[in-house]
Amino acid sequence: MVEVLVSAPGKVTLFGEHAIVYGEPAIVTAISRRLYVKAEPRSDKNLKISAMDLKIPGVILTFVSDTGELTLETDYGRVVSAVSYVKKAIELTANYVGEFRGVNIEVRSSMPVGAGLGTSAAVAVATVAAYAYALGYELSKKEIAKLGHKTELEVQGAASPMDTSIATYGGTIYIKPEKPEPIIEHLKLTEEYPLVIGYVERKNTTKELVAKVRKLKEKKPEIIMPIIRLIGVLTEDAKKALISGDVVELGELMNINHGLLDALGVSTKELNDLVYAARQAGALGSKLTGAGGGGCMIALAPGRVAEVSTAIDILGGQPMDAKMSAEGLTVEVKK
Ligand code: MEV
Repeated sequence: MVEVLVSAPGKVTLFGEHAIVYGEPAIVTAISRRLYVKAEPRSDKNLKISAMDLKIPGVILTFVSDTGELTLETDYGRVVSAVSYVKKAIELTANYVGEFRGVNIEVRSSMPVGAGLGTSAAVAVATVAAYAYALGYELSKKEIAKLGHKTELEVQGAASPMDTSIATYGGTIYIKPEKPEPIIEHLKLTEEYPLVIGYVERKNTTKELVAKVRKLKEKKPEIIMPIIRLIGVLTEDAKKALISGDVVELGELMNINHGLLDALGVSTKELNDLVYAARQAGALGSKLTGAGGGGCMIALAPGRVAEVSTAIDILGGQPMDAKMSAEGLTVEVKK
């Protein structure tokens, strides 16, 4: 019996979240916190999902027919939304490879789920790879990233390819959405950038926050579009600063990026408090990361990691250390 263990990294967006939804570039790095998906083929057409870290003890879905559609026999209420990424990833992958086999899926996570660290993208790409490899199909990273992005698009309604790309390729990437493929540049960093991540409870989903920015843009396009374009401009500067190792410039650009995200209405008082406390404790720069509405902020704090972590902790934020540029998707097949 084949058993496949896939892992995918979480991520933090260094620059450009939200603006990327409107075609601007972003810079994103994989972090050393990971999500794991184990898959084992079954002899029937059932899909059994257990994900204790996502508070899912065990859900069974069944392929109804060879159309590859999966149905839930019971109404699991809220659980359904957490399961939906696994379900959609398997439906899309089964249709892509043209084989509808039951599998047991187990999901584990070493990062908080729904915190803005890209867990839904990590679940999507890891499930695509786990299902395909368990059935004997060795998909390329490009195919996995594409199916993962399609999963996020279908579950969330809107998503840039940023999170699913970084969860697949790892490292630090500059990404600009273009049709038919996004432009992806892998950035070679000469420095180890000491990042502190601070987490506060999240009040809104990514989908809600993306919709909030869209609404504001439709209401005041002449104000909001320049803000979005400015985020794109500073992201181009940040790419140069990251490559040359100019930490002071990076810190300054992070602060500007945070101000612009706040202007788009996606920050919260709790996040702003953490962002300013980090700067007061000696960070060169700090900003919210991801969709906002609570969730995570990051601080660039060379020589000040302990002080910045304490400042975040005092305010009730959960400090997390994580290394940047972590490895992308890994697949281990045990026979
Ligand atoms: C979410 O991690 C980042 C956003 O830019 C949405 C997206 O890129 O799909 C807010």
